[in-house]
Amino acid sequence: MKNWKIYLSMLFLILASILYFSDDGQSLAEEKNQEKPLKIGVSLYRGDDEFISSIRHALEEEKLALEKETNRKMTVKILDSKNSQSIQNSQIDQLVRSDYDVIAVNVVDRTVASNIIYKARQAGIPLIFFNREPIQTDLIQWNQAYYIGSKAQESGEMQGELVLEQYRLAPETIDLNRDGKIQYVMLEGEEVHQDSLIRTESSIKTIVEGGVKVERLARGVGNWMRQPSKEFVREWLEKYPNQIELVMSNNDEMAIGAIEALREIPEGMTLPHVVGIDGTSEGLEAVDRGEMLGTVRSDPNEYAREMLTLAKQLVESNEQPIGNGDPYIWIPHQLYQK
Ligand code: GAL
Ligand code: CA
Repeated sequence: MKNWKIYLSMLFLILASILYFSDDGQSLAEEKNQEKPLKIGVSLYRGDDEFISSIRHALEEEKLALEKETNRKMTVKILDSKNSQSIQNSQIDQLVRSDYDVIAVNVVDRTVASNIIYKARQAGIPLIFFNREPIQTDLIQWNQAYYIGSKAQESGEMQGELVLEQYRLAPETIDLNRDGKIQYVMLEGEEVHQDSLIRTESSIKTIVEGGVKVERLARGVGNWMRQPSKEFVREWLEKYPNQIELVMSNNDEMAIGAIEALREIPEGMTLPHVVGIDGTSEGLEAVDRGEMLGTVRSDPNEYAREMLTLAKQLVESNEQPIGNGDPYIWIPHQLYQK
């Protein structure tokens, strides 16, 4: 019988083609794995936060773009914790149970990140924290935990520069009573947030180190939100009529609250300058209209792209550290002014 020769050569051909077609350094199992959609679960601290909701939209956009570019399907499930750590904890449990490949967390309470890291580590699911920065000693507990965010100090300094530049250009447009000092009020974000204290301090420090004197008339914690900030500014305008020369705000939403309060003041009263941070769409419009001196942009699409790219790398690298093993990825800021 010569048939065995034919069988053998057929077998050889089959084996050779298997080897040939999977010869780009990947096993068949890995190739098959790439056909499965990548499952990314995202938990937002609260969906009605303007800047966070812009990141949500950007995630949806960038997901489609990245799928096209890389030819790999992605499922991105976005959940809203409604500012409750216990809701967020159960969302994370749910994502772990449903076998998500990567979990991205905009942690409600920055001080409890270690519990979340513990859970994800047990389940072997990589974690990407974003925008709300965990304490460093927690983050470095596991080499599959990362943080993507913007540097608070950079944004504060750039905001200070905006004011300084305007002062140098035309001091009389800020120092309205010409006493050589800028009388300002400060709208602050959540007290435990890394961005609030650092932005508050570094913005003012930049102005003072630039050689301009300042005097704070009032401060209020608006928790990033428009409405409470509007109420603060209304109150301050009554208490300090014609005295406020500058409204410094830790973000654009609170700055817009201030602008809404300023729109209510009678003609003829002096209008302070307003500065914000984030570059939300309404923030940018307020700058274009001249109602805000400027803002400091943090691009939500850059955030989203970094998050999705990192998620993909984490899954494909099979627990090998990404890049140089540094768990921090920083999104740069840009100035936006008229
Ligand atoms: C800040 C941002 C705020 C708010 C906050 C939520 O970086 O400037 O507008 O979105 O994050 O964590
Ligand atoms: Ca003054």
